Amino acid sequence: MHALRSRCDAVIVGGGTVRADDPLLTSRGRRDPEPLRVVLSRRLDLPAQARLWDQAAAPTLVAHGPEPPAEAVARLEALGVERLALPACAPAPLLEALARRGCNRVLWECGPELAAAAIRENCVQEVAAVIAPKLLGGLPARTPLAELGLTAMEQVRPWIALPPRPLGGDWLWRLQIPDLPSG
Ligand SMILES: NC(=O)c1ccc[n+]([C@@H]2O[C@H](COP(=O)([O-])OP(=O)(O)OC[C@H]3O[C@@H](n4cnc5c(N)ncnc54)[C@H](OP(=O)(O)O)[C@@H]3O)[C@@H](O)[C@H]2O)c1
Repeated sequence: MHALRSRCDAVIVGGGTVRADDPLLTSRGRRDPEPLRVVLSRRLDLPAQARLWDQAAAPTLVAHGPEPPAEAVARLEALGVERLALPACAPAPLLEALARRGCNRVLWECGPELAAAAIRENCVQEVAAVIAPKLLGGLPARTPLAELGLTAMEQVRPWIALPPRPLGGDWLWRLQIPDLPSG
């Protein structure tokens, strides 16, 4: 993940991942400057203390919709975290705003809710699936994608699969959209 982040201009998570994981989201020094860490949140119900708020590690941007809750805005401003109001709190307007800042290679390192929204809005060109030789069952085994609104196999978009390759003790499997520009 550190190497993958180091090839990106920005790494995006949703508010759910910040609340659940308190991630650091840096490349651990593999890239200078570190990728921009981006949180997309509608409610801005974000923890008062989080590793993302430490701007010495890497820059952080919190993006939200046009009318964020005033109290939450005040909390973020007190923390000194940069905010970005989007015309809508959604993946496509976020990517447009990031592109205007020069962030063109962007990693969605979010949970299932935002990942599904990004795919629904055609904001994903490549999927990197890491398959680990571990068995999980029951409630903790969440799926990596939330509702995609697909009810028939004919609706499922075909991806081009690159050959899986070993990654430590795991396997990395890259899936690309058919018309992905080379490079
Ligand atoms: N295995 C992995 O690689 C990986 C990576 C990341 C996370 N996770 C796991 O994922 C779980 C969290 O799942 P999650 O789905 O809550 O995380 P998420 O997708 O990162 O965050 C969901 C949140 O994104 C925000 N959001 C803003 N605009 C949105 C939009 N248009 N559509 C959807 N969401 C939008 C909302 O935040 P607000 O509620 O703040 O408004 C929403 O609750 C945790 O258990 C975490 O460990 C796993």
